[in-house]
Amino acid sequence: MLEIFDLELIGKPAILGFSVTILAVLLVVLYGSYNVFLHPLRHYPGPLIWRAFRLRYVISIHRGDFHLRLKEFHDKYGLVVRVAPNELSYADGAAWKDIYGNRPGHPLLQKNPTTFQKMNPNDPKSIMSPDEDAHSRMRKAFANAFSEKSLKDQSPLIEGHIQGFMSQLKSRSGKPIDLVEWLNFLTFDISGDLSFGESFDCVKNGKAHTWVEIANGFGRGLAIIATVNLYPPLNKTLHYLLPKKLMQRQMDHREISAAKAEKRLAMDTDRPDFVTPVKKFNEKRAGIQPNEWSLNMGIIVFAGSETTATGLAAIVRELLQNPGVLARLTSEIRERFEEERHITIATTGNHPYLDAVINEGLRIAPPAVVGVPRIAPPGGVTICGRHVPKGTYVAVNQFPANRLERNFRYPNSFIPERFLDNNPKTDNLTAFQPFGIGRHSCIGMKLAFAEMRLVLSRLLYSFNIVLADPKDRWDWGTQPSSMFWVKKPLRVVLRKSGRT
Ligand code: HEM
Repeated sequence: MLEIFDLELIGKPAILGFSVTILAVLLVVLYGSYNVFLHPLRHYPGPLIWRAFRLRYVISIHRGDFHLRLKEFHDKYGLVVRVAPNELSYADGAAWKDIYGNRPGHPLLQKNPTTFQKMNPNDPKSIMSPDEDAHSRMRKAFANAFSEKSLKDQSPLIEGHIQGFMSQLKSRSGKPIDLVEWLNFLTFDISGDLSFGESFDCVKNGKAHTWVEIANGFGRGLAIIATVNLYPPLNKTLHYLLPKKLMQRQMDHREISAAKAEKRLAMDTDRPDFVTPVKKFNEKRAGIQPNEWSLNMGIIVFAGSETTATGLAAIVRELLQNPGVLARLTSEIRERFEEERHITIATTGNHPYLDAVINEGLRIAPPAVVGVPRIAPPGGVTICGRHVPKGTYVAVNQFPANRLERNFRYPNSFIPERFLDNNPKTDNLTAFQPFGIGRHSCIGMKLAFAEMRLVLSRLLYSFNIVLADPKDRWDWGTQPSSMFWVKKPLRVVLRKSGRT
């Protein structure tokens, strides 16, 4: 009779394969069980499979629904959720200070080393890198470029770009256009001019410059890099894992950035941009090293453009979907100004309802949709009154925090008034930090606000805006995100208001 386990018949390789599979399954089960039942974070709530393995988290990031899953989990489990074996997501206003602030007597929480890990050890450092010493040196060097005084000096340049943008839109009035695309053109032209000494001319040409086109795919590339880095030693093979086309485009991008940075640095000029103040700083102290310019300028262009364009696109969409708010803001703007040319960065600065609309847009659609996790230091740290063991990744994730009923009444509705007469019992503004806090908070916040105020004021003064398709209405949060929002078009028709 044939024996079921006749070794001769089954063959040794098959048995070996079978045993290895069993062993692997056993190890995976043991690893998952350890994470759920014995891990120091076992008392933190969260979905079982996410607590057991990080893979589900990674899949969600690549599907683009990470922000939505986080929102679901915070609704179900509360203000702190364990979203991976070693990661906690917070939607609690108090967590901002505990994670990102400088608390006397507490060690600093550094950026996790995986999200912005260098692809090559010889790559220069940037203002976004997790190295705190390099960050502090660069932040000091760039500080003057983003001061109130610098913004005032840069205003004519920014206003000139917005003038060009308005002219292009006026020549297209009455016809449907995609405002997401045009806002992107504008913000990249402004940041490009302030960083590289010349505009990308996207607005002028009505199409994205190659640099901008490549940068628009950054979110996807960053998501791949950040998640592969979570699985050492797999990250050593990142060069082979990334699609060849993506790698080539990244190389092209670096080359264009290097050429542009070199050209700007060679200019003998005092033009009011981001470079002049840093060059002056460099004369007295070690600021930005020669090999660090190009990477930093590229990062600043991208960080300043993608976010501001997203904020503006979201705000315009919310205005068009909320006619009451649109009517009030439009009439306030048209009452404030007699002529379009009076609308400037300086004159749009003191308009409480406009600022409330901007803040509400950033709440509903935070451009930094989820946070860059920080890492709990040796000895652990107390966050929101609970101990978090060393090595844990921790982040306040803006989308779930801003859309949580516990933080904001009617969280999915666009209600700027919550920022005018704030009632902390119904709207917890400590949870709302669109620009982050602490030493890594947004260096470009003033500039972003200036751009958003001016663009919105000019658009609503000069145009009556409608959705090209009145049925094209949906919640901003239903779009996918891949580190940044993957924005759908905002097709609108602009009709001249008669005030131009
Ligand atoms: C609506 C527009 C913007 C939003 C919502 C935004 C949001 C943020 C957030 C949340 C951070 C902190 C990231 C972290 O802690 O990990 C950040 C950092 C940063 N942002 Fe912005 N940003 C905006 C516009 C800008 C602009 C206009 C610029 C410059 C032109 C800029 C340049 C930067 C830089 C360089 C950093 C890194 C700062 C550091 O680590 O010291 N951002 N931004």
